[in-house]
Amino acid sequence: MSGASHSDRPPVIDYEGSDYQASFWEHGGRDYEDQAEAVALRRLLPVSGKLLLELGAGAGRNTPRYAGFERVVLLDYSRTQLRLARQALGAHERYLYVAADIYRLPFVDGLFDAATMIRTLHHMIDPQRALTETRRVLQSQACFILEFANKQNLKAILRYLLRRQSWSPFDLQAVEFAALNFDFHPQAVRGWLKAGGFSVQRQLTVSHFRIGLLKRWLPLRFLVGLDALAQWSGDWWQLTPSVFVKAQTVGDSPMAVKGAFFCCPECRHSPLTEGTNSLDCPGCGRRWGVQEGIYDFKAPLD
Ligand SMILES: C[S@@+](CC[C@H](N)C(=O)[O-])C[C@H]1O[C@@H](n2cnc3c(N)ncnc32)[C@H](O)[C@@H]1O
Repeated sequence: MSGASHSDRPPVIDYEGSDYQASFWEHGGRDYEDQAEAVALRRLLPVSGKLLLELGAGAGRNTPRYAGFERVVLLDYSRTQLRLARQALGAHERYLYVAADIYRLPFVDGLFDAATMIRTLHHMIDPQRALTETRRVLQSQACFILEFANKQNLKAILRYLLRRQSWSPFDLQAVEFAALNFDFHPQAVRGWLKAGGFSVQRQLTVSHFRIGLLKRWLPLRFLVGLDALAQWSGDWWQLTPSVFVKAQTVGDSPMAVKGAFFCCPECRHSPLTEGTNSLDCPGCGRRWGVQEGIYDFKAPLD
């Protein structure tokens, strides 16, 4: 995975061709993390809703967990991941697959009543811009569930105190531990959310026991149960590698007019007109491909 940069846009990590879902989740020994995240999502998600935007959906690992929503839009920059998601979830009309950049969402303002961004903010070199863009496409009082990688975790604190690590887990500066992979300070994330137009409602700390020995020795259900108990401490302190935040949009949003959905990510014109295997922008003339059930706003056709 390498970064693909554009002059006027933040660089985006490239998951094209990546076997992330298989190597990290299916064969990576991460059942504990997966199930601890499922508990957090169950606790934070509204029971029901109309249209949920899953930002950085990957291969759709979490998508079945949004069963209370009538429709789910899976958005990811990687066509490979979306194809895998479509193979796993099917061409059901409940799901819409969209290849696009979180920094430039191809949707009209105020469209969604909920959004999630799980294990994706840590790829954002400009998290404030990503969160502000997310707010734009959400309705008033919409629910947003955000997971981020926490630099102020217990392991980092111990390593810092033992002088095994040069960077401080306590300051607000992001840590780029690999190219386009960042750990953030919880206070910094809360600040970006507030500035982006969200209020934080609840925080859950997740994966307290992400330690190889514990994962090998203790039964999975027991470890997940312990984590489920410990998650509630997240409103008081955040010392885990992963933190889930439930936020709500603040202030009024223009309600998307009936039938309006996509807009051009380049010029923001809406509506787009339907071409043959494309959505065409009458505003700037760009044509966006629709192939194998995936709306592709990564780059225009031609
Ligand atoms: C670590 S994976 C997580 C996938 C999924 N949320 C999960 O938890 O299984 C991160 C995903 O974010 C996507 N991504 C990263 N930056 C993005 C951006 N700027 N716009 C859209 N997707 C992005 C990647 O393509 C990748 O599929």
